Amino acid sequence: MFRRVIANSGTDCKPSPSLAEILREEIARNGPLPCARFMELALYHPEYGYYESDRSVVGQRGDFYTSVSVGELFGQLLAYQFAAWLDECRKRNAEGGPPDAPLQIVEAGAHDGQLAEDILFWLKRRRPELLERVEYWILDPSERRQEWQRRRLSMFGSRVRWFANWGEVQQAGGVTGIIFANELLDAFPVHRLAWIAAEQRWCEWGVRTMADRFLWTRLPELHANVAALADPAAALSNLDPSLRASAWTSLAPVLPDGFVLECAPFAELWWNIAAQSLRRGKLLTFDYGHTGGEIINPTKPHGTLRAYRDHHLVDDVLAMPGEQDITAHVNFAAITHAGERAGLATVELTEQSRYLTRIVQRTMQPPSVFGEWTRERGRQFQTLSHPDHLGRSFSVLVQERT
Ligand SMILES: C[S@@+](CC[C@H](N)C(=O)[O-])C[C@H]1O[C@@H](n2cnc3c(N)ncnc32)[C@H](O)[C@@H]1O
Repeated sequence: MFRRVIANSGTDCKPSPSLAEILREEIARNGPLPCARFMELALYHPEYGYYESDRSVVGQRGDFYTSVSVGELFGQLLAYQFAAWLDECRKRNAEGGPPDAPLQIVEAGAHDGQLAEDILFWLKRRRPELLERVEYWILDPSERRQEWQRRRLSMFGSRVRWFANWGEVQQAGGVTGIIFANELLDAFPVHRLAWIAAEQRWCEWGVRTMADRFLWTRLPELHANVAALADPAAALSNLDPSLRASAWTSLAPVLPDGFVLECAPFAELWWNIAAQSLRRGKLLTFDYGHTGGEIINPTKPHGTLRAYRDHHLVDDVLAMPGEQDITAHVNFAAITHAGERAGLATVELTEQSRYLTRIVQRTMQPPSVFGEWTRERGRQFQTLSHPDHLGRSFSVLVQERT
């Protein structure tokens, strides 16, 4: 998400009572919650979760902008690139089997269906013969969001299919074509750890209650999901395991007490299963996050967990559960490894602006089916690529199975 910060906002709104109550009850029953569980309920509780809310959360009237809320250009550029990849897949199919075997574009985390609509419209107008051979699959566990998407995409009829999880996708035969997500991985729940310098170990932050507030508290032990961090060097997930111990020896003495590290095991697992579900083609994500070694940078000790509402950075991540977005940087190195473990080759990890610029250059080479470069398209491209807008914040990871 492009979270344009206008100013710090206060937290004077009352939390949604129902979700706050549910959280309080769980804490009373089980003790303090790991941050990941708090996030899971705050964002995805089936009734009161932030992403289940009927109010607009993306775009000018929402809490943050995405590349999709800039306008239809982002989807059109993706559609143009996807069409080229699908043409390649069809050629390969023709070499090894029936050329018209169905191909899929799978979008995960389609939210209100806007990006799907932009992509499908472009294909319908510019590559109708290809669209005839492509199925658009949406992966979304939420029935409510599926309902929003079904309404928006009704004109595409049976070309669009819905799946609640990767198990269903695999039962349908897996994916030949493209699997992609835009700003999904940064919305996965994270565990939040702190470095205890005196004891040279990681401990985990959890969430407790005091009166009607939620507060951070140290958990007595690491949750099973992050138990590997009992070996502190495991935090260097951007490095090959064989290099971690020696790198840690020089890093540990300069790591400040309280240094915060976020771990997203759900995002890594999700990506690994996505990679396993890809029979042939590309897997890609657009997101913001750590692209190099900066996941443990002693000069940036506070972590990246943030909350946003009405385009404002909110001071208290734990306030107003269900009414504000909560997000953390993606660890691209860990995600890249998760895909490679499932046998994918990494094609590139690059800035979104560079990636889109390359597509734009191709659209301008004749003969092009992309359509005229209008002023409006130029304006949207500026916003997507300019470093003060979305250009610098986002990266693209592309992996493939050939
Ligand atoms: C930040 S929004 C993405 C916005 C949208 N892709 C766009 O570009 O505007 C993340 C979306 O992914 C959905 N989501 C969360 N977990 C998911 C999962 N495991 N599989 C698919 N979608 C998920 C969220 O509910 C939310 O609608």
